Amino acid sequence: MAKAPSVLVLNGPNLNLLGTREPEIYGTATLADIEALCRKQAKALGLTVDCRQSNTEGELVGWIQEARDSAAGIVLNPGAYTHTSVAILDALLAIGLPVIEVHLSNTHKREDFRQQSYVSRAAEGVICGFGVQGYLLALEAMAALLADRRGK
Ligand code: DQA
Repeated sequence: MAKAPSVLVLNGPNLNLLGTREPEIYGTATLADIEALCRKQAKALGLTVDCRQSNTEGELVGWIQEARDSAAGIVLNPGAYTHTSVAILDALLAIGLPVIEVHLSNTHKREDFRQQSYVSRAAEGVICGFGVQGYLLALEAMAALLADRRGK
């Protein structure tokens, strides 16, 4: 049997505080809850996941670079780096893996500075506003995308 493709599920700054961080915006699930749900969803989809979080831009860039050799795709919630980080965009463009961008909140309903995403330029698609469910939708989309590419 072919090896299950691995997806890097990457969360950026302050997402380690989920559960207590502005629950009216981000909900009450913790990052550990989200990662457990991602592992379950991945298994059901025939994928494996490598879940990581960092508050540091350079560490996220390093993990994205490493993913070139270890992952088939990336599900990424870059947190505030979404709106500021050319370095994360460049890393994603450099490795060329399929990327699905996720946000718990609907960033389009929020402040003006959240309307711009650098990361979207490297993403196959963006899921925002569905809370925790967004990660599960992203994994479903990634499974379909990878299966489609394997079939070509
Ligand atoms: C976020 C939205 C960002 O604007 C914010 O900086 C975050 C979380 C979200 O998941 O809704 O940290 O990415």
